[in-house]
Amino acid sequence: MQRPFDRGVSQDPSIASNNGPTVELVQTQSALREVLRRDNQPKPLSLVPTMGNLHPGHLKLLDAAVLQEGTSVATIFVNPMQFGPNEDFDKYPRVLEADSKLVAQMGIDVLFAPSLEDMYPHGQLSQTTVNVPKLGDCLCGASRPGHFDGVTTVVSKLFNLVRPDIAFFGEKDWQQLTIIRKMVGDLDFPIQIVGIPTERESDGLAMSSRNQYLTERERQIAPQLFRILQDVAASVRSGVIEFDALEESACAGLLAAGFRPDYVAVRVASSLEPPRTNRGGLRVFGAAHLGKARLIDNVSVDQ
Ligand code: PAF
Repeated sequence: MQRPFDRGVSQDPSIASNNGPTVELVQTQSALREVLRRDNQPKPLSLVPTMGNLHPGHLKLLDAAVLQEGTSVATIFVNPMQFGPNEDFDKYPRVLEADSKLVAQMGIDVLFAPSLEDMYPHGQLSQTTVNVPKLGDCLCGASRPGHFDGVTTVVSKLFNLVRPDIAFFGEKDWQQLTIIRKMVGDLDFPIQIVGIPTERESDGLAMSSRNQYLTERERQIAPQLFRILQDVAASVRSGVIEFDALEESACAGLLAAGFRPDYVAVRVASSLEPPRTNRGGLRVFGAAHLGKARLIDNVSVDQ
């Protein structure tokens, strides 16, 4: 496929992967604007926002964007606004060189990796925020206050900077995906949001940048989260509607396995509300701490 951009024009370096494919790396908003303003840019414009430290789950998103055949943009930005004061913002892995090579190998056209100052030139305290009420307050929002405001704010900024036609997000972060769909509808962003199924290790553990915080022993325990959520889904599927009891016993199972459970919850997949019946469209969500990692996962009750 012909590359959409004339690499000579950008002031930022292109990153080559072993003399193979290149991606145009831009690290400022102005460089991004310059690149995207060029008028030979094929449509659709696809976007994959990430915080980097890419794993095979991200590669699925990048692949979906490249398959659109227009122009693909990936972003890497560790967004401080979505981390709580005692969370892992400082130690979140930043491996731009390795990530850039992967992004190039995947065939992405443009990689936008801005600095903190470029994204929040006036700091974060006076930053206008985007809040999606209700959806952002439950499940992970209840234990990570402000987290989803940080996500929706930075995603809105990225949408405004890149102006994509399509954007890809992982279903592992189902609550995030649901919130972004709502935000896009409410704020009239002309963007199609596509969810990509969770990529799993062979033992079922959902792939996540945070899995690398696990010790060897914790890594053995970690797939239990998926198994326990699957058991809850199977019970609901078989007709059990005592959701509270199922959730409690799942948390007890997580505790016994060595986790510090945050929640297990059966919810309506589209609204994240507690279900009144089990007539379909349900999902089981779970979050639990294991050592230094906070793991999340979710499974569909429908098969
Ligand atoms: O899912 C993520 O990696 C982040 O929440 C996102 C969407 C890139 C926003 O920072």
